[in-house]
Amino acid sequence: MSNASLAIAGAGGHARVVADTAEALGWTVSLFDDNLAGRQSGPWQVADTVSWLMEHLHHFEGLVVGIGDNSIRCRVQQEIVNRGGRPVTLVHPMAWCSPRAVLGAGSVMFAGAVLNAGAVTGSACIINTGATVDHDCRLADGVHVSPGAHLAGSVRTGHCCWIGIGAAVRQQIVIGDDAIVGAGATVVADVAASTTVVGTPATPLVRP
Ligand SMILES: CC(C)(COP(=O)(O)OP(=O)(O)OC[C@H]1O[C@@H](n2cnc3c(N)ncnc32)[C@H](O)[C@@H]1OP(=O)(O)O)[C@@H](O)C(=O)NCCC(=O)NCCS
Repeated sequence: MSNASLAIAGAGGHARVVADTAEALGWTVSLFDDNLAGRQSGPWQVADTVSWLMEHLHHFEGLVVGIGDNSIRCRVQQEIVNRGGRPVTLVHPMAWCSPRAVLGAGSVMFAGAVLNAGAVTGSACIINTGATVDHDCRLADGVHVSPGAHLAGSVRTGHCCWIGIGAAVRQQIVIGDDAIVGAGATVVADVAASTTVVGTPATPLVRP
């Protein structure tokens, strides 16, 4: 594949790493953002709005949503799919995605990320820089494994979970929908849906 055109919905920091990853794979990228149309986003000119992109999906060979917020990313990707667009996966040349793993539509793996044998992700997931997802893990749609976070074998995460930077999750742990694992946490017990856990061992964040 060389110089096929890829549209990225979003133009923030995460979108720029998506763009870098795509260019390393030989795509020619265009960024779209409702707030920044016509402006500069790092080295990239923001081509137009996401609204415009939604009306012109067929102009592009590839589509990826480059929005960091898990629920917004899933919603925008679903709209693309509903309109007949087909999100592509991106695996940085310096990442490892096992041929026995499945990376869901529109999901991305940045440099140094690993998805090991038997692991399966849903759509619109982010396996961020240097994150590892070990054998037989199951990630639902919209999960973000932040830089340097590690999931041991057979971990299961519900939709739109956010595993914070540098966190570690013990094997066979189940993390519920929309849960958040704080930066640097060590998860040794299951995490209930919509719960934020922090610390070592990780416990629910108590707010005053
Ligand atoms: C867990 C997290 C979501 C909480 O965010 P928040 O709701 O804004 O919480 P606050 O910053 O208000 O902190 C609330 C309390 O939790 C503590 N806390 C926050 N994050 C913590 C963490 N990761 N580990 C331990 N304690 C933490 C704070 O010190 C504070 O304690 P206090 O009430 O005694 O002062 C956030 O701190 C975090 O870790 N996010 C992940 C960031 C990340 O991975 N970024 C990578 C993006 S690619």
